[in-house]
Amino acid sequence: NKGKYEHYMQKEIHEQPESLTTTMRGRLIRGGSCKAKSVLLGGLKDHLKTIRRSRRIVFIGCGTSYNAALAARPILEELSGIPVTMEIASDLVDRQGPIYREDTTVFVSQSGETADTLQALEYALENGALCVGITNTVGSAIARHTHCGVHINAGCEIGVASTKAYTSQIVVMAMLALAIGDDTISSQARREAIIDGLFDLPSKVKEVLKLDQEMKDLAKLLIAEQSLLVFGRGYNYATALEGALKVKEVALMHSEGILAGEMKHGPLALVDETLPIVVIATRDACFSKQQSVIQQLHARKGRLIVMCTEGDAASVSVGGSCRVVEVPQVEDCLQPVINIVPLQLLAYHLTVLRGYNVDQPRNLAKSVTTQ
Ligand code: UD1
Ligand code: BG6
Repeated sequence: NKGKYEHYMQKEIHEQPESLTTTMRGRLIRGGSCKAKSVLLGGLKDHLKTIRRSRRIVFIGCGTSYNAALAARPILEELSGIPVTMEIASDLVDRQGPIYREDTTVFVSQSGETADTLQALEYALENGALCVGITNTVGSAIARHTHCGVHINAGCEIGVASTKAYTSQIVVMAMLALAIGDDTISSQARREAIIDGLFDLPSKVKEVLKLDQEMKDLAKLLIAEQSLLVFGRGYNYATALEGALKVKEVALMHSEGILAGEMKHGPLALVDETLPIVVIATRDACFSKQQSVIQQLHARKGRLIVMCTEGDAASVSVGGSCRVVEVPQVEDCLQPVINIVPLQLLAYHLTVLRGYNVDQPRNLAKSVTTQ
């Protein structure tokens, strides 16, 4: 049931304030006079000690689920102090990459049925690793075959392009980081700030959804383009990959997410006055580096669309020449949840304006159960 919406993707983008609330329901503890703010993940509480003792955490997934894990990686590394590595499920299986008993492997999958992810899960089970699932589907193969896990509880997602599951997956993995780091006194203030940020997140997502018309106007400008680049780094490297994936899979436009730190190692050759480039430059520790990326792209006459924090338009628009999209600020590690929303809206409007099928893009399936 699409309710007042024309498409499931549109509905699922707009219901993110509610889906995120459901994801967090019963899992955040507000704390009080003698109790610290904390996180309770029922499915993991008996396994946290084992996870904390592991030598490495390995995130495994495909498509959007992989991108969600990439978005959560920095905060997991920060709060756990454990090395976190990333694996695209098919690539891990192709390489038969080393997985050890001392590893915690985390399988991220909206459907819980993706064949590549399941095969990687079998492989990790054979190798004796602790296998944790993060899935939206109760009773799915991944939920059943993992040792433990967390249901993201985002509600049924119908659009082939994943939107609300992506933001809920990031939130669950941020909560995973908080739960693993829960025994560390030195990071308590940081954890409490993130928990406060999680409580505020649905209302901030509601705010960023107000950019709908602005993103539709932007889509009108980009309707006939062949290609779109998206530059991000740090917490928002994943936003660049996921924003580009959305544009590619539904709007059927070539789009590439680029790690801004790699700009000079190839991508800069593509820059001219015609190719549109989105640069994500919201406030965090990488902000000044992104300002310099903007200047360098501008010097090569790049056609820039800059996503920045509210109030920062003047600090990011060199010579007043870029188009600017301002978004509300949240705790740095949660910013990817906000920043993806305008790009989801852009991909949605581009698709509708170009006359393509938003909910069932050609050649793609919601759940890829064959290899
Ligand atoms: C659980 C109940 C929820 C109830 C809550 C009350 C279920 C599905 N969830 O939520 O309805 O309101 O207790 O305390 O009955 N698991 C895996 N792999 C996965 C995902 C989950 O093994 O990929 C396991 C977990 O380790 C856990 C169980 O499935 O044993 C349920 O997980 P989850 O729904 O996340 O747990 P709760 O949030 O505690
Ligand atoms: C398919 C979907 O390619 O599988 C994507 O079209 C999705 O949207 C990917 O991200 C992985 O699916 P899942 O269910 O394992 O998260």
